[in-house]
Amino acid sequence: MDSTTESNYPLGGEIQLDEQGELLLSGHSASGLIARFGSPLVVLLEEVIRRNCREYRRHLESYPRSRVYYAGKAFLTTGFCRLLEQEGLGLDVVSAGELHTALCAKFPPADILLHGNAKGEGELKRAIEAGVGRIAIDNFAEIEVLERLTSELDKTIKVLLRLAPGVRPETHEYVQTGQVDSKFGFNMAGGAAEEAVRRVLAVPALELVGLHCHIGSQILDLAPFEVAAKAMMEFYARMKNTLGAPLDELNLGGGLGIRYQAGDNPPSIAEHLERLCRTVLDAAREQKVEPPVLIDEPGRSIVGEAGVTLYTVQGVKRIPGVRNYASVDGGMTDNPRYALYQARHPVLLANRAGEQADDEPWSISGKCCETGDMLIHDAMLPALQPGDLIAMFCTGAYTYSMASNYNRVPRPAVVLVGPGRASLLARRETPEDVARLDQIPDWLEHLP
Ligand code: LLP
Repeated sequence: MDSTTESNYPLGGEIQLDEQGELLLSGHSASGLIARFGSPLVVLLEEVIRRNCREYRRHLESYPRSRVYYAGKAFLTTGFCRLLEQEGLGLDVVSAGELHTALCAKFPPADILLHGNAKGEGELKRAIEAGVGRIAIDNFAEIEVLERLTSELDKTIKVLLRLAPGVRPETHEYVQTGQVDSKFGFNMAGGAAEEAVRRVLAVPALELVGLHCHIGSQILDLAPFEVAAKAMMEFYARMKNTLGAPLDELNLGGGLGIRYQAGDNPPSIAEHLERLCRTVLDAAREQKVEPPVLIDEPGRSIVGEAGVTLYTVQGVKRIPGVRNYASVDGGMTDNPRYALYQARHPVLLANRAGEQADDEPWSISGKCCETGDMLIHDAMLPALQPGDLIAMFCTGAYTYSMASNYNRVPRPAVVLVGPGRASLLARRETPEDVARLDQIPDWLEHLP
């Protein structure tokens, strides 16, 4: 393991150090942000997010017709929906909660796409009533529920079919999604996908506009995207030619990786899209169909590198010859990615970043009563002491959105920072918030 990488986070752009070696995020000092908003704190860099949104849109411009839906599962709040709308992106939601968040932010329903492998009838009904633009159907039962709901509500809806093209990219197995052995979508192999097309075509209220696949997340190699795109285009053309399916959209589902470690070399958004567009255009020519509307659905590559989480060291424990621990005021409750996927995010001592690394590595532990609550093992950092600020990078995606209240730990605040401004996207949870759903049954009100 290369334990030096995490403490050598490449600074630049919106992430700088001042002369005293303190971390500056879009010009705001880490300690200033903590003094104002409290600790731990999730900081999102507005300029990075906007730049990434624009990169996606710009590099799809050369393709005849295209669309970008941001995958809300990576990070979503009402304010963030506004930012996405300003940047002209659509939104992929996967639950009643994400849908409600978007609707609260007055995000245009027509630009919302509902996904999910276990959508409840209530979620589908709410989506139809709200007028969401697309629903991606995941399984046969959903076709029946949608047939009934559209008839009861006297509505028609545009749908995509989610397919599993049988591609397994190299990434953590928990985030592979398009392989044959997957809970998601209709398998292309074995005929389920074709049967799904037939069944949807038989329901007049379901307008089959396109096909969708998502092969996985944090993918650093472009080849599997190309394999999936070709397989999807072959199927797309075959369904048009043999069944007369009125398909016009191909959604290839996001998944581009970001740089967590010095050894990670993700393709740029430009390289990824250039290859995706070329693959789909070539395939359309080969299959003799008009190029479909090309849709991508990125989450991590929009918001991941825009996030920095700041923690305060509460206590340190040195075990000579064994390990050094620094316990911080957050952990798996605000970032479960190390506990779940052994994901190593870069870390930095934010208040004394210029100092020499200690002779021995440091492990950053979370505050939960569980040995597995670690943020990282064995990172090269200066000797840590209580009160120090730790910055963990690349935490914009799949951290706050996966946060929990384990040990009844309140979730941190999220602040959006740009040059000369810093505002909350989500306030810090309070202990009162954490207890807000609790009820005491009346027979437990009084002691016996
Ligand atoms: N579309 C669909 C249908 C998806 O399931 C996902 C992610 C995306 C788009 C966005 O993929 P992205 O561009 O963010 O890779 N919690 C895991 C990641 C799970 C991703 C699941 N699906 C993690 O922390 O690594």
